[in-house]
Amino acid sequence: MTTPVLNTGDGTEVELPFVEAVNGDNGYDISKLRAATGNVTLDEAFGNTASCRSEITFIDGEEGILRYRGYPIEQLAEQCSFVEVMWLVIYGELPTKEQVEKFEDELVHNMFLDERMRDLFRCFPRQSHPMPVLSAGICALSTFNRNHVGLGAEDVEIATRKLLAQVPTLAAYAYKNSKGQPFLYPKYDLSYVENFIRLAFGTPAEGYQFDESITQGLNALLVLHADHEQNCSTSTVRMVGSSQANLYVSVASGVNALSGPLHGGANQSVLEMLAAIRDQGIDPKDYLEQVKAKKAGIKLMGFGHRVYKNFDPRAAIIKKYADEILSKSPNGDKELLSIAKRLEEIALEDEYFVSRKLYPNVDFYSGLIYEAMGFPVEMFTVLFAVGRLPGWIAQWREHNADPKARISRPRQIYVGHDKRDVVPMDQR
Ligand code: MLT
Repeated sequence: MTTPVLNTGDGTEVELPFVEAVNGDNGYDISKLRAATGNVTLDEAFGNTASCRSEITFIDGEEGILRYRGYPIEQLAEQCSFVEVMWLVIYGELPTKEQVEKFEDELVHNMFLDERMRDLFRCFPRQSHPMPVLSAGICALSTFNRNHVGLGAEDVEIATRKLLAQVPTLAAYAYKNSKGQPFLYPKYDLSYVENFIRLAFGTPAEGYQFDESITQGLNALLVLHADHEQNCSTSTVRMVGSSQANLYVSVASGVNALSGPLHGGANQSVLEMLAAIRDQGIDPKDYLEQVKAKKAGIKLMGFGHRVYKNFDPRAAIIKKYADEILSKSPNGDKELLSIAKRLEEIALEDEYFVSRKLYPNVDFYSGLIYEAMGFPVEMFTVLFAVGRLPGWIAQWREHNADPKARISRPRQIYVGHDKRDVVPMDQR
């Protein structure tokens, strides 16, 4: 491949070295552009900009492909536990049986929070949304581990393990706090995912009865959310980490970025849309006609994705679990599931949606499953955060391990006032 040359029109020519990808979009390295031309590129919302080279996750949005470390998401969701996938995403290879058993055991033995951390939750009002509580809890973890917040390999490994072990506990306590219910202690004889479920739903008064389909479904949902290359929260984690902020506070920034309705909060909007369709007795076909007519306040939530111009592969897997879990669960809203399926069926045959490449995304069915598992809507984004944790950690570590890494510092194109002089107060 010859190196492309950008001719700026005023005789300046800049070489744009070609950056070859293993899969997917190749790139042009524009790092010399400003030095050569005095100008920058403008790419609002980064639709055309690769912010890093990464070995972790590959997405082909046109073909609907998602792979972690080369492994197709379908195989991982079917065959691997969330703990295995954490290991894969962070360390790059699938663990052996011995490695994963030791790792899970270590995580489960570290799920306990420092007792003083429990007091932290009492500072928040009863009805607090669990996302800011989770984020504050993760920042607080850095103070409880203040001797290991460095950037060296040992400290990063300690922070990695602490976060993986304790974020589910924080997430469950954030939920318990919102309900005014007592906090439970983790149990060594339960798996990582079982501990999380019991910490969220158990009470100290009785033993917790696990429903295997819920444990398996949650495991698969966490796997499906484990990483998604340079999405908004992951880019935030990398950017905060680029200032050499520690892993804890960088991850807390990821939680904050995820809390927005355009990112992690989207599955809540899907559930609200489905409930509105049911409550107002709207026929799904009519609803889609209103979407097409761009009727005020009418939107098709959970369809379309910035990267996927085809099925979001995660949505197809989640749909399967939605069927299974909702058919068994007393909480599951089967009416909403059938409205969701009908909307999908009609939209996939309608030229309007097909030509705009609007297909169901990961959020379309996930809220329905979380609800069927017994989680209230405020917890949906928290569950996303528990799933995305290994991805944030892996991406932060990848940046931190790069000897050429620099602090992220985008440029801008200034479009404000030209220079002007301050008018004295009495003349304004
Ligand atoms: C995600 O999983 O982070 C979402 O699909 C958003 C994204 O990738 O941009």
